[in-house]
Amino acid sequence: MALGERDKPSGQMTTGHEWNGIKELNTPVPRVVYFFLIATATFAVTWTLLMPSWPGINGYFRGFLGVDQRVAVTQTVDQAKVDRASWTTRIDQEDFAAIQADKDLMNIVRQTGAALFGDNCAACHGTDAQGRPGFPNLVAAPIMWGDDPKIVAETIRIGINGTSPDTRFAQMLAFGKDQMLAREDIDAVVAYVQTLSQPDLAATIDADALLAGATLFADNCAGCHGEDAKGMTDTGAPNLTDAYWTYGGDRANIRHSVYDGRGGTMPSWEARLTPTDIKLLTLYVLDLRATRP
Ligand code: HEC
Ligand code: HEC
Repeated sequence: MALGERDKPSGQMTTGHEWNGIKELNTPVPRVVYFFLIATATFAVTWTLLMPSWPGINGYFRGFLGVDQRVAVTQTVDQAKVDRASWTTRIDQEDFAAIQADKDLMNIVRQTGAALFGDNCAACHGTDAQGRPGFPNLVAAPIMWGDDPKIVAETIRIGINGTSPDTRFAQMLAFGKDQMLAREDIDAVVAYVQTLSQPDLAATIDADALLAGATLFADNCAGCHGEDAKGMTDTGAPNLTDAYWTYGGDRANIRHSVYDGRGGTMPSWEARLTPTDIKLLTLYVLDLRATRP
């Protein structure tokens, strides 16, 4: 049991312990491990002294550096408000044409407008504002209520069939359900309406039936949709002669619109969005329309 005996195959010293001829090598933990252990422990202790750390009964130890994330966040938010105010006041005060002519301001409108649209409008109108069944395409379809910026802002503020006392009303009558037109007349006017956007279909319909449909349209529909069926901004009745449909331009959907009526709801935003946001969204939507490919 000699101490400090050297093990021949490995060249290491042994501890001197021996069990049935098996000896234990003396291989201490490498120094570098001790070094890192001490370094990390020192760092940890120093850090807890410098930064907010130990919980107490009435609060916590705030650290010798006095770092406070809440103060940092408040400062960032305040700074953002100051930065924002520099352009929100301009959006508030300048008229639509002046803002639309200002490239820098319009860049801000495109960024903030996209975020506002994503948060508030995309659920119905789609992230690209191109609509989906039941919700109109705001980019490409002819506007129903008028595309003057003041009118669009007003549509967004008061909504359509919304909760605002000033809301716009859009009511496509239920000609079938409310028995305003006989079944054959509905079929005739529906067939006629379909030929307005798809003129090729006219060849497949009997000329008398087509004429009957046109007369029915003039008597029952033109008052809201216009003599030329191109829509009227007074009634919010859409153009029926183009490729854009809120509910669908195939025979079954047109029939559904005429038989059961329609009345989509566009929420009134006056209680949920600030006038600045509404103006931003108006500029954003009109910009999408103006710059569409
Ligand atoms: C709950 C679904 C819904 C949401 C959310 C919504 N809309 Fe609408 N919006 C509609 C419907 C439905 C219509 C068509 C109503 C009708 O004609 O009966 C419409 C119509 C419009 C129109 C009128 C288009 C025209 O042709 O005159 C504009 C502009 C508009 N929306 C903008 C917006 C903006 C901006 C937002 C976000 C702040 C928004 N909408 C959020 C459902 C929605
Ligand atoms: C009182 C006014 C009014 C009258 C009368 C009226 N419409 Fe409408 N119509 C509307 C309005 C408003 C809408 C839009 C409803 C909506 O978007 O929710 C509409 C929507 C429609 C649609 C759906 C369009 C789409 O984009 O999907 C069709 C189709 C239609 N009308 C056909 C007719 C026909 C055919 C008649 C006559 C038999 C008629 N309308 C009479 C006001 C009217």
